[in-house]
Amino acid sequence: MTEIPEMSSRGSHTPAGTLSDTAAWMASFRAQESARRDRRIDDPYAARFAKNLSGRFAHRGQLAADMVVQRTVVFDELILKTIAEHAIDCVINIAAGYDTRPYRLQLPERVVWFDTDLPDLTTRKKELLDDATPKCAVEFRNLDLREAGQLAAILEDANRRASRALVITEGLLLYLPEDSVRGLAETLGLHPNVSVWLTDLMSPAARFFMNRAAARHLDHIGEILRFAPRNGPAFFAPYGWTPESVHPAFRVMQRIDRNSNPMIGAVLGAAKLFAPASLDGTVLLRRL
Ligand SMILES: C[S@@+](CC[C@H](N)C(=O)[O-])C[C@H]1O[C@@H](n2cnc3c(N)ncnc32)[C@H](O)[C@@H]1O
Repeated sequence: MTEIPEMSSRGSHTPAGTLSDTAAWMASFRAQESARRDRRIDDPYAARFAKNLSGRFAHRGQLAADMVVQRTVVFDELILKTIAEHAIDCVINIAAGYDTRPYRLQLPERVVWFDTDLPDLTTRKKELLDDATPKCAVEFRNLDLREAGQLAAILEDANRRASRALVITEGLLLYLPEDSVRGLAETLGLHPNVSVWLTDLMSPAARFFMNRAAARHLDHIGEILRFAPRNGPAFFAPYGWTPESVHPAFRVMQRIDRNSNPMIGAVLGAAKLFAPASLDGTVLLRRL
């Protein structure tokens, strides 16, 4: 169903390979933030996943760190708020990577959390979390978005067992071609128990700058940042999704004092002149 481009033309596809590397890279930013005295997130498990991060990801740009930290903070806040306000009893994290929210957020016990990713990554994650106790029921599910029907099967299972689900796509859509995001929006729309969908979005301007930076520092993923809709959250309206709340990354970075490169706000602000409705940040979507 969904095409996900190879993240590397040269990388391996072992558990320590490129796909897992992007997840470990995200975990390394969460570990770095968690080690700070003035930390905005506390992920005691992140360092475990970041430990074997490939040298190819050794460049840890401060902007990328700020972006991941603000995203984590705003997702944490919105997940807790949405679960309470929408009476959510199921969370489906698509391409969860090394996210550990079921273990570190104060989630209601009623929640069933589906943690989905490629099989190698999921196996490794389960091993590394073997001694950790989740706050709610967690079910690890293998998911390859390229395989037709796998996501639908998970959503159908969730539909049978829960009444109101929150879907999370964090750090995922930006890698997908537009057609795949459209397919995902339609698939989610077919499952009536999926009430809300939390995702981050990238603007065309940010894609341009980040692809350039990636080409410099991570040449193997240089050209794979793809989905950056000019119309931002409005992209999802034809598939039945409307924004409930919108959280521009730069404002969150200022609020949490993780704005180490103030120029970036100016640059993105100016670039947005060409796509005023685009968004760099997080959007909580609900059914129209
Ligand atoms: C940048 S990471 C984001 C992980 C996590 N959501 C986070 O924010 O830390 C992208 C994730 O997509 C997963 N992924 C890549 N291709 C996939 C596929 N075909 N099916 C399912 N997941 C995939 C990777 O394993 C990785 O965990």
